[in-house]
Amino acid sequence: MNLTQCAGAWGLVSGASSGIGREFCVQLAAAGMNLVLVARREAVLDEFAAELRTRHGIATQVIAADLAREEAAAEIQARLTREAIAIRLLCNNAAFGRWGRFEQTEAEVYCEMIRLNTSAMVSLCHRLLPALSSHPSSVVINVSSPAAYQPIPYMAVYAASKAFVHSFSQALYGEWRARGVLVQTLVPGPTDTGFDAKAGAYDSALKTRASPAEVVRTALAHLGQDQPVVAAAKGLFKQRFFAGLFPPRTVIEQVGRMFRPPEER
Ligand SMILES: NC(=O)c1ccc[n+]([C@@H]2O[C@H](COP(=O)([O-])OP(=O)(O)OC[C@H]3O[C@@H](n4cnc5c(N)ncnc54)[C@H](OP(=O)(O)O)[C@@H]3O)[C@@H](O)[C@H]2O)c1
Repeated sequence: MNLTQCAGAWGLVSGASSGIGREFCVQLAAAGMNLVLVARREAVLDEFAAELRTRHGIATQVIAADLAREEAAAEIQARLTREAIAIRLLCNNAAFGRWGRFEQTEAEVYCEMIRLNTSAMVSLCHRLLPALSSHPSSVVINVSSPAAYQPIPYMAVYAASKAFVHSFSQALYGEWRARGVLVQTLVPGPTDTGFDAKAGAYDSALKTRASPAEVVRTALAHLGQDQPVVAAAKGLFKQRFFAGLFPPRTVIEQVGRMFRPPEER
């Protein structure tokens, strides 16, 4: 399935209210795709959906849902069935992170992060893949991160959650490719969104940021290509080489230095 085939089909984007997810909606709507927008902030989604309908003449559905709730995926599936929407593109994008020493964030926040970043993706894939494969071709985009490639001290749970996404998503590619579903694992580099502010990010070695528009353009340009992992990040090859071949202590120390809180430097 390529971008031109999106016109008139339905896509579902999680985390559609801001950042990369919002930009996915902008570019998919411009290609004529009807959209199901999922996130928690209903008023933001309603206003954005109205803007997309007016500008691009597409149909939209807003589903305000907290994806960290176990029942959320079932509720979304029920809503799609009720509205007779057979999605052809699923973008699992919603996630959050947290910077700082492990013990300084409550365990419940980490559990919520694991449920949103991993379990919600598994549940949505599990529930929606059979319907996706009813089309001659369809796409799942699972948003990973360079954080997936090595452990990150001071961002331990987020990095581990993205390592899960990275492995899980590529395994699904292997299972669904022959059934006409391309499962793309998207690796954005540091991107200019509200993510870092919500994660309590402090000044770090990560200085340059791409725009969400660049990241999404790269993802969508690869829709028609049989490529399991799409990198929208600079320096990934060097990072993977370092993380994969250097001794774990060296990798952990080096990465830990990049993410250490200012008061511990
Ligand atoms: N920004 C970066 O530098 C960067 C780098 C690599 C990878 N990524 C990945 O890119 C993806 C998008 O991140 P972003 O940078 O666009 O972040 P963002 O601007 O903070 O957007 C996150 C989105 O997720 C939604 N969300 C958060 N918690 C949710 C919940 N419990 N239930 C449903 N929706 C929820 C938010 O909407 P509501 O608040 O309305 O629910 C928002 O729409 C994530 O998977 C992230 O890990 C980002």
